[in-house]
This record gives sequence, C-alpha cells and structure tokens, in this order.
Amino acid sequence: MFIRRRRGWELPESAATPQHWVLNRRALMGAGAALLPSAALAQRRGEMPPGPPLPPHERNPRYVAGRELSPEADVTSYNNFYEFGTSKSIWRAARRMPVRPWTLRVDGMVANPREFDIDDLIRLMPIEERVYRLRCVEAWAMTVPWTGFELSALMRLVEPQAGARYVTFTTATIPGVMPGLRQSWYPWPHVEGCTIEEAANELTFMPIGLFGQPLPQQNGGPVRVVFPWKYGFKSGKSLVRISFTDTRPDTFWPVIQGQEYGFWANVNPEVAHPRWSQATERLLGSGERVPTQLFNGYGEFVAGLYTNLQDERLWA
Ligand code: MTE
Repeated sequence: MFIRRRRGWELPESAATPQHWVLNRRALMGAGAALLPSAALAQRRGEMPPGPPLPPHERNPRYVAGRELSPEADVTSYNNFYEFGTSKSIWRAARRMPVRPWTLRVDGMVANPREFDIDDLIRLMPIEERVYRLRCVEAWAMTVPWTGFELSALMRLVEPQAGARYVTFTTATIPGVMPGLRQSWYPWPHVEGCTIEEAANELTFMPIGLFGQPLPQQNGGPVRVVFPWKYGFKSGKSLVRISFTDTRPDTFWPVIQGQEYGFWANVNPEVAHPRWSQATERLLGSGERVPTQLFNGYGEFVAGLYTNLQDERLWA
C-alpha cells in the first residue's frame, strides 16, 4: 500500500478550504455578484485567506503617528519578505502561504513554555489597534494601523525566568511556498532578536491585523513583531517561535553583512548606512521625502533603554 507521508507544511485535505474562506465567499456573494470573480481568481491562483475576521477592538489613542496613513494598496504590495524572493513584488507569492492552522511556540527560559494555536492566542490577548510609523533601513517609510497585542502581555503569561536576557523571533520556513529558501546562502530561518528590556517596552507590538483586516501574509501574517523605533528589518514576519535566552542571538542581517547591519538597528538620521544617507526617508504612496527622526520619533518611550550602552553599536 502506498502511504503518503505528509510534510509539515502540507495541509490535510480537510483543511484545504478553511471554513472562514467559505464564509468569506458567502459574504462576498451576499455583497454582490460583481465581487465574485476576484475571489474566485484568487482561489484559482492558489492564494490562501489571511485568517478569520479580527475580534472587535479599538484604536489606542496613546500612540499618535503625526502623519497620514500610507495607502493600503501600497503597504500590501510593496514588501520585503526574502523567503518569497528579493524583489518588492512578492505579495502574490506570499498569499499562497497557508496561515491556518498555525502554531506559535513560546519557550526557552520561561516558567510556562507554551504552544499556542494562533486563534487561541488571539482570544487570550488584549487586542487593540495602534498607528505606528515604520522606517525601513532602505530609507522608505510607512504609517499603518496595526491590530495586535503588546509583547509584554504574552510575557506575563509565560513568565520569563530571572536569567533571561534576550528574546529571539523565528520566522516559518515552508519550502513548498517559499521559493526564496532555495537561496541557500541566506542563513534561514530568519531569526531576529532584542533584549528582554526592549521586548518588555510598551511599544513592542505583535500585529495580527493591518487596516482592520487579518494581517496579510506578505506583511507577516498571521503574526509578526514590530519595534517602531528600530529599522524595519528587526520586525520578523510570520513567526513560529519566540524564545527567551541568556545569550545574544545571531540575527539574520548581521550574519549576512555585519559591516552594514547590526543587532540594535535603532533609527538615527545622523548615522549613515555605509552606502546611503539615513537623513531623510521616502513616504510610501506620496513619494514625499521627509526628515528622519532619532528613534523614528519614539525617543520618549525608548531612549532610556540605551543610557548604559554607549559602547554598543546602537544605530547601524
Ligand atoms: N521578516 C522576514 N521573515 N523576512 C524578511 O525578509 N524583511 C524585513 C521585515 N521582516 C523581512 C522580515 C524588512 S527589511 C522590512 S523593512 C519589513 O519586514 C517590511 O515589512 P512590510 O513588508 O510589512 O512593510
């Protein structure tokens, strides 16, 4: 008898058409037949839905971006996600990544290591919307409404041990849908990291949504991390593991090119990248150039994290 062993990334037959996809299609049918072709086309292209509707939640007024929101169409079609390729146009490829079922493991130096089904985790966490600026090291920037939860809320659940000093964030590796993984010179999986103090900072946020919708795969769905005061490459996408450790992790970009990219990567207009200035940034959508701000304008929340770290390369 031929027994087919299913690889980890393959969905069982029963999950091939997740219920929320069917529900979404029903909703679309209700909304009018004119909408049907695009949903049908997306399904034919092998695109997977980014997840069920978000739970009800409100915008937190404490975080004011001071800029207009970037156009959603640009935010969801101009992306860095090297697992899907090195161009900015990977959104369609990324949409083929199945994001249900999805497990996030939280482990290492914690009192309560846990494996969360993503929907259980969403039910457990205090969900809110925050408008943050994101500054890519390549000198483009966007302003977006993320839906998600503070990493500190998850930390309270798993209780890091006293000796835990760093947190690592590991992105999924799914060879069947991620052509970029064939570029074997990159140190897959994509691992990012921060100190435990940075992880506990109120700004460190775990988005599960964007513009009020489930977080699209190209933007890191079903769950990613963002540090709005650091260059965007620190914000690991499509996470499967968060681990607490006493050792500083080797993270993706410093391993590839340590001269140009460091562990801390805090935004600083005065410290140029070796190949370009960081003094200004280009806004996604309008293309307008505006001055870059120290800590991407979030100094009041985070400057205190770095007062005793003058010997570190805090900005590159
Ligand atoms: N995470 C993974 N796993 N792989 C990546 O290539 N690119 C990073 C970051 N997270 C990247 C990643 C970079 S360089 C940036 S600027 C942001 O994602 C871009 O996020 P966005 O596509 O949602 O704008």
